[in-house]
Amino acid sequence: MIKNICCIGAGYVGGPTMAVIAQRCPHIKVTVVDLNEKRIAAWNDPDVNKIPIYEPGLSQVVAEARGRNLFFSTEVDQAIDEADMIFISVNTPTKTYGIGKGMAADLKYIELCARQIARVAKNDKIVVEKSTLPVRTASAIKDILDNTGNGAQFQILSNPEFLAEGTAIEDLFAPDRVLIGGDTTPEGQKAIQQLVDVYANWVPKDRILTTNVWSSELSKLTANAFLAQRVSSINALSELCERTGANVNEVAKAIGLDSRIGPKFLKASVGFGGSCFQKDILNLVYIAKSYGLHEVADYWEQVIIMNDHQKRRFAKNIISTLYNTVSGKKIAFLGWAFKKDTNDTRESAAIYVADDLVNEQAEIVVFDPKVGQEQIQFDLNYLNTRTEEENKNAVKSVANPYEACKNAHAIAILTEWDEFKSYDWKQIYDNMLKPAFVFDGRNILDKKALEDIGFKYHGIGVNEI
Ligand code: NAD
Ligand code: UDX
Repeated sequence: MIKNICCIGAGYVGGPTMAVIAQRCPHIKVTVVDLNEKRIAAWNDPDVNKIPIYEPGLSQVVAEARGRNLFFSTEVDQAIDEADMIFISVNTPTKTYGIGKGMAADLKYIELCARQIARVAKNDKIVVEKSTLPVRTASAIKDILDNTGNGAQFQILSNPEFLAEGTAIEDLFAPDRVLIGGDTTPEGQKAIQQLVDVYANWVPKDRILTTNVWSSELSKLTANAFLAQRVSSINALSELCERTGANVNEVAKAIGLDSRIGPKFLKASVGFGGSCFQKDILNLVYIAKSYGLHEVADYWEQVIIMNDHQKRRFAKNIISTLYNTVSGKKIAFLGWAFKKDTNDTRESAAIYVADDLVNEQAEIVVFDPKVGQEQIQFDLNYLNTRTEEENKNAVKSVANPYEACKNAHAIAILTEWDEFKSYDWKQIYDNMLKPAFVFDGRNILDKKALEDIGFKYHGIGVNEI
């Protein structure tokens, strides 16, 4: 029975996942390690509201388990040495250099982990791929472990994580399924069973699915590709709705009631963001290309092309509606995170919309309930399209939504935070320049109510012609 778990990587996946394992399995010691000292210090902050990741319900789980059987540390070697099972939960971003640049997953952090495990491990370990990885990565990890290790035996399992940010704790408490892939050998099957036993502490057995390693690795990329494809499909239709007078919310409802299609993931938006969808589809496209499967690659790439188009189209619509110029105009952004209930901004549509508008010399003032100035500047600087000084001058952030909207020509909703719906929109209107425009990139506001106040409302795929 597993008694000691180590997780390498204390990020959006490692942190919440391990916190829930520790809370649900008080008999297992769980140590989450990371090279990032600042991040670990934040996880250990005596004030649980200051942990580095915002997720509804996470701070309560951490408060219950931390110091009991949940630990956060930078002592990576020690945690590896003590563990029976090691989760690798490090980042696997899109490569920014060399072969596969802009498409393939960068596996350097994974390889570093494998080498470190091999160097430190003195007894047999089960190594679990929690990060999202290209199909067949397990064989590379095994190769490194077997050839650079000290003779310890390793079993590699694939256990991809399906949580979505903003609902991570709900998703971890009651997952649709837990997927575990392993070798078909007796040793592989034994390792699978040990991980099944960990999850079985709170997940019903019929939701724990076991497969071979390659099916598990590929299923994760595929699940994200299918989800993102639905968003791009409805977003493609949103543009057609704007030209034809159809309303995309009504179309989504009408098609979603067909039980074969289903209602989820049909919300038209300014475009999907987040650290996973784009990266994982690009990775899938790259894998298909590397096998010479060009039609397969092109098919999935279109999901990304559509998403890029949707983000650009949103910015263009703001510019053309504001009489073809936003130069010197104040545009208020409500929301910067890539979705509600998270402080994560990776690949957020807001970054790209801001970039396009700043190119047209707009002045942007952002309010996001969980994202501050420092992160916003980091995101813009990361794009590398202009100097830090220029970004600082063009995009500012304030801690009050009413202040953000004061004297603005237009408001753009970039994140679907619930609190936006309950603002005093009359007060906001009174303090704006006229005509006052709202560009609702999430279709969360009440079009009629805003129009009654006097706003000119532009939703995604809901304009009348
Ligand atoms: P993240 O960037 O938030 O966290 C990764 C952490 O790993 C960082 O804190 C980094 O410092 C640490 N790290 C990197 N190399 C290390 C090393 N050698 N030793 C110790 N620590 C190291 O990333 P994330 O969002 O948690 O994603 C992790 C993986 O999970 C990725 O493969 C991602 O695709 C996958 N995933 C993410 C989500 C999500 O919603 N974010 C969901 C499912 C799967
Ligand atoms: C995704 C997957 O859902 C999750 O299973 C996987 O483990 C990690 O990647 P995440 O990126 O955290 O999760 O959030 P998700 O809820 O999938 O949203 C991704 C993006 O799509 C967000 O920008 C969201 O706003 C957007 N989206 C989602 C839409 O625009 N419309 C929708 O109908 C659904």
